[in-house]
Amino acid sequence: MLRKMKLVPVLLVSGIIGLNAQKDIPVYLDDSKPLEERVEDALSRMTLEEKVAMVHAQSKFSSKGVPRLGIPEFWMTDGPHGIRPEVAWDEWRQAGWTNDSCIAFPALTCLAASWNTNMSLLYGISIGEEARYRNKTVLLGPGVNIYRSPLNGRNFEYMGEDPFLASKMVVPYVKGVQQNGVAACVKHFALNNQETNRHTVNVNVDDRALYEIYLPAFKAAVQEGNAWAIMGAYNLYKGQHCCHNQYLLKDILRDEWGYDGVVVADWGGTHNTREAIFNGLDMEFGTWTDGLTMGQTNAYDNYFLADPYLKLIRSGEVGTKELDEKVRNILRLGFRTHMDKNRPYGSFGTEEHALAGRKIAQEGIVLLQNKNNVLPIDLNKAKKIAVIGENAIKMMTVGGGSSSLKAKYEVLPLDGLKNRIGTQAEIVYARGYLGDASNSYNNVVTGQDLSDNRPAEVIMAEAIEVAKTADYVVFIGGLNKSAFQDSEGNDRLGLGLPYNQDKLISALAKVNKNLIVVNISGNAVAMPWVNEVPAIVQAWFLGTETGNALASVLVGDVNPSGKLPFTFPVKLNDNAAHAMGEFPGSEKQVTYNEGIFVGYRWHDKQNIKPLFCFGHGLSYTTFEYGKVSADKKEMTANDKITFSVTVKNTGNREGAEIVQLYISDLKSTLPRPVKELKGFDKITLKPGEVKTVTFDIDKSALSYFDAYKHEWVAEPGDFEALIGASSSDIKTKTTFKLK
Ligand code: GLC
Repeated sequence: MLRKMKLVPVLLVSGIIGLNAQKDIPVYLDDSKPLEERVEDALSRMTLEEKVAMVHAQSKFSSKGVPRLGIPEFWMTDGPHGIRPEVAWDEWRQAGWTNDSCIAFPALTCLAASWNTNMSLLYGISIGEEARYRNKTVLLGPGVNIYRSPLNGRNFEYMGEDPFLASKMVVPYVKGVQQNGVAACVKHFALNNQETNRHTVNVNVDDRALYEIYLPAFKAAVQEGNAWAIMGAYNLYKGQHCCHNQYLLKDILRDEWGYDGVVVADWGGTHNTREAIFNGLDMEFGTWTDGLTMGQTNAYDNYFLADPYLKLIRSGEVGTKELDEKVRNILRLGFRTHMDKNRPYGSFGTEEHALAGRKIAQEGIVLLQNKNNVLPIDLNKAKKIAVIGENAIKMMTVGGGSSSLKAKYEVLPLDGLKNRIGTQAEIVYARGYLGDASNSYNNVVTGQDLSDNRPAEVIMAEAIEVAKTADYVVFIGGLNKSAFQDSEGNDRLGLGLPYNQDKLISALAKVNKNLIVVNISGNAVAMPWVNEVPAIVQAWFLGTETGNALASVLVGDVNPSGKLPFTFPVKLNDNAAHAMGEFPGSEKQVTYNEGIFVGYRWHDKQNIKPLFCFGHGLSYTTFEYGKVSADKKEMTANDKITFSVTVKNTGNREGAEIVQLYISDLKSTLPRPVKELKGFDKITLKPGEVKTVTFDIDKSALSYFDAYKHEWVAEPGDFEALIGASSSDIKTKTTFKLK
């Protein structure tokens, strides 16, 4: 048939169809049209029922699209460290898929500890590719709640105690995720700084602390990261649940920050139809659940923004203005993600992602102490290495709550050491203590049998015996992902290590001078044995490549370069929240009496020496700082000042140093922290190499939030710029004036 047709008519016909087709593509499907035009066009085509169906879940992790208009369903997935395995439609338990084993990336405390924004971008791109491949619309992460207490069960999912560090590290992660056509969903907005009573506790905090400490990372994610989604927190603020809170979601998020993304409720965080309608909630998920376990089956039509909402509209009690606004936000999300024809395809469970995770892990591991240069392990000297501790053999990618994963694989610390050391030395393992032998979470099974029914003293005695005759002892302990440790839903009960590890560590120190303690945790822990142990390494939950990353640092293939994103207090009452007596507060109220004095801000103010300070981390080489210089002695509110400092690698191997800039307001109307982090730069130096680091500072780095005026204020006067290798290791400083 076609062969017989003359060419001209064919062109003419197809041309006409083509012309007509161009004219006939509905605006909302035409991605050459401006986004807002597409949103309005799609909205105008939707029925009331279709709109109401869109603003609440239809299953555990999905909400309706509009099949009639070719608008796909919206799929959410946990979590911040990797793509959660598929659950059944309306269950928390596994769906039992065989193609959803992901790459588990390091916990976000590790990413923060890298102080390397390139690692944030690599992280976001990698996890975004995994989410995209699994055809998810929204990744429910990253979490950026500030580390107020070392007992908070979910600190491992967040980025530390300092708003500036968290603000800088969250932005590239968000951008990396979203370049895959998947929305990042920054959480939990806001003031979700504890797990105890998380569904009922109302947080009392002054505006200054809210704006200077608890909001900046969210603001950066929204304004610089251009986050397309944000998740309301469970707790209350000013008496309203954060998932439908007029102060946070309307006054601040929309009016002050100009946010145009969607607001997603945390699972079970919605409690009231009218507040949900009028206070800025767009997508209601997980209602009638506690976000982890229980749930009312198939309750979707009873959701607060489901039939109850429809009834109020049909009765004329409420209008559809708010509904249209919600649907606009959701349609905008759709056009940015699953309706973007140029959306890339992603990739899943790849070696590339595993290696990305390993690189981030290696950059985040922190060398806390290294007396007599016990580390790195000298494989020419080591004939026998004793590895002791449950965390050397325990999978950490399973458990901990909603961030729990089904990883494609997880190299355990002991396996990583065996992989790396091979026959170069004999490795002998002993359990040392029996902690948490559970091997499944939400019916993801680890396949491990960690049971050991010998008496605790036998297990300990065995380890001490093994340690006596070893050239090195590597103790690998810390916390784990079980309840009341680094886990969602509960807070820790104390600062100390569980399972009697302190006693074992002290005993090992007595029988072997080459003892290395590796603390695997997402939180600070007490270390009463700190002066008995030569070498201490803070290793986070490092994900799929845990063992390989850790081994490469311990044997010196990699020079550690991480620094602490939060303070290690000596004892709990050295921490502000605990000293001021308000953690975790009561069932209904918690008051942040410490205000802005969180973390090192408190230690500086009270002159309390920490066990290890914010920003601390050693290297296998040494660095020398020159004298800081400024390009001017006085600056005005409209210009900037540049500080420069040289850093030299004075050791015999290449290494990376995180140079930190703190600003101190020498005289201020209101109380201010002694100093605050306002710049950092991670530089790599070869032996003998010198580099100059510069920091450009404008008035925003000098400002505090004046709650009375409700604005940021930089007071003229004298300031000091302090350059350090950590918050307490200040190398050089200079004063300058703001006119
Ligand atoms: C959980 C968590 C939240 C998670 C959500 C879905 O309870 O609070 O971070 O994304 O519910 O699992």
